[in-house]
Amino acid sequence: MVRVEELRELPEAEAGMLAEVLHAAVHGGASVSFVLPFPMEAAREFWLTKVLPGVAAGTRRLFVARVDGRIVGTVQLDLGMPPNQQHRAEVAKLLVHPEARRQGIARSLMMVLEETARAAGRTLVTLDTRTGDAAERLYLSLGYVVAGVIPRFARAPASGELEATTLLYKDLR
Ligand SMILES: CC(C)(COP(=O)(O)OP(=O)(O)OC[C@H]1O[C@@H](n2cnc3c(N)ncnc32)[C@H](O)[C@@H]1OP(=O)(O)O)[C@@H](O)C(=O)NCCC(=O)NCCS
Repeated sequence: MVRVEELRELPEAEAGMLAEVLHAAVHGGASVSFVLPFPMEAAREFWLTKVLPGVAAGTRRLFVARVDGRIVGTVQLDLGMPPNQQHRAEVAKLLVHPEARRQGIARSLMMVLEETARAAGRTLVTLDTRTGDAAERLYLSLGYVVAGVIPRFARAPASGELEATTLLYKDLR
């Protein structure tokens, strides 16, 4: 049974499980900011230095999906927008462990994320994802609209090749 919950702090055990999910996703080929080599320590550091401060400040909402207590998926909603974009929020680091995919976990995480965005008064959600990835199909299935494609946006984690990204948005009104 999958349970989605929000984390408002990052205890040692949770940071470790999130690091495992990120580490496994990057080693599985996910294009989510990192390139190989990507040691577990770098994955742990990401959660503690890049995510935790925003979570603690309340500008970044962090969600996890658990199966039997173990974190198997995660997503973040970044509410830290400039004064003229307070109606907008950004989706970041939607990750599901390679062993837990195609069970609807990402879909469940996105449902909770959108409820949270609405409750926070945000009516526009934006994100980017590598063009052609499973994630793009997921977002399209959830009603996200393609705003455009930027070629040569980011390096592939293993080959280092420059790859395109697709910008998407969803109007929550
Ligand atoms: C993208 C990702 C989060 C999807 O997680 P998931 O839990 O397997 O997704 P779900 O099971 O909720 O899939 C929901 C829908 O998305 C689409 N989808 C997801 N994965 C797919 C795949 N590999 N191929 C085709 N469609 C896919 C399908 O429409 C699916 O519905 P269905 O299973 O009923 O057909 C996961 O593959 C992942 O972590 N990828 C690497 C990280 C990444 O690219 N993150 C996005 C960064 S923006």
